[in-house]
Amino acid sequence: MKAPVRVAVTGAAGQIGYALLFRIAAGDMLGPDQPVILHLLEITPALPALQGVVMELNDCAFPTLAGVVATDDLNVAFKDVDYALLVGARPRGPGMERKDLLEANGAIFGPQGKALNDHASRDVKVLVVGNPANTNALIAQQNAPDLDPGCFTAMVRLDHNRALSQLAEKTGAHTTDIKKMTIWGNHSSTQYPDLHHATVNGKAAMSLVDQTWYEADFIPTVQQRGAAIIKARGASSAASAASAAIDHMRTWAQGTAEGDWASMGIPSDGSYDIAPGVIYGYPVTVKDGKYTIVQGLAINAFSRARMDATEKELREERAGVEHLFAK
Ligand code: NAI
Repeated sequence: MKAPVRVAVTGAAGQIGYALLFRIAAGDMLGPDQPVILHLLEITPALPALQGVVMELNDCAFPTLAGVVATDDLNVAFKDVDYALLVGARPRGPGMERKDLLEANGAIFGPQGKALNDHASRDVKVLVVGNPANTNALIAQQNAPDLDPGCFTAMVRLDHNRALSQLAEKTGAHTTDIKKMTIWGNHSSTQYPDLHHATVNGKAAMSLVDQTWYEADFIPTVQQRGAAIIKARGASSAASAASAAIDHMRTWAQGTAEGDWASMGIPSDGSYDIAPGVIYGYPVTVKDGKYTIVQGLAINAFSRARMDATEKELREERAGVEHLFAK
């Protein structure tokens, strides 16, 4: 067994938290030889519920669970953490304007960024799941001036996995037969699931499907899958979101397979003409805990228009939260 690492999870008593913690504790995220100490953050009124979750974690007697810290104090939650999964967020309430939503989340992710800045490991890997995930990640990053900005990422992996599942169903393949799926941009309905580089059993995905299915079926289905699940389940996706968060972190820690890549929301750096300043979904390869944007992909006019539209939305979200950035 290796020395334990510390993994913070916020919103730990919520739906996603309940689907996530047991898998992290069981070793699904970092492997069966990597013990973890969980740092669980909740708001004060949810601490009794969180205690129940801690009791259940202990009752699982997981070989890879080396300790649990449950707290409502940011400074305790992020002390020396190597990984932070920021799940807890303010959902949009009835009649809540977008501006109010961004503001309410700023009040959560600004202080969390500062606490990570002050207390976390210097190469902490931060994944923001709580929506609006890309812009919440930007707020946290902009309040953590002493950390590498690249420590802050947002989750588009659920969209990536949804795209794999739709394409597998259409082509009669298994998701593991598909390589090089890409989600560009925002984790929202403007995201662009791009099949132009994807392969199914080594064949170009676009040679196996027609443009009408791609435009009228695949893209909207992936973009609106979250809403479809809310409609069907009466609650937002939780187990699949938790599973995608595990995938994102495992890929970041353990790397991508040869000949494949993953989609991660990461700071834009000008690649593919997306100017710096937003957290944008890109195809990445990962090695030794560092991600690198896949370069040199041909972008046609159809893709360009969609990549620009999702960037535009992210710039608008950024404009609404810039006053929350540390000076
Ligand atoms: P939930 O409402 O069941 O749980 C959220 C938990 O966060 C609650 O227990 C709440 O007490 C806690 N919380 C609120 N503010 C907090 C704070 N300041 N610090 C610590 N904890 C806090 O919600 P659920 O279903 O677990 O979803 C969580 C978030 O994940 C939502 O914002 C949701 O929209 C988002 N989400 C993101 C997805 C993605 O692909 N990026 C997919 C699905 C959900």
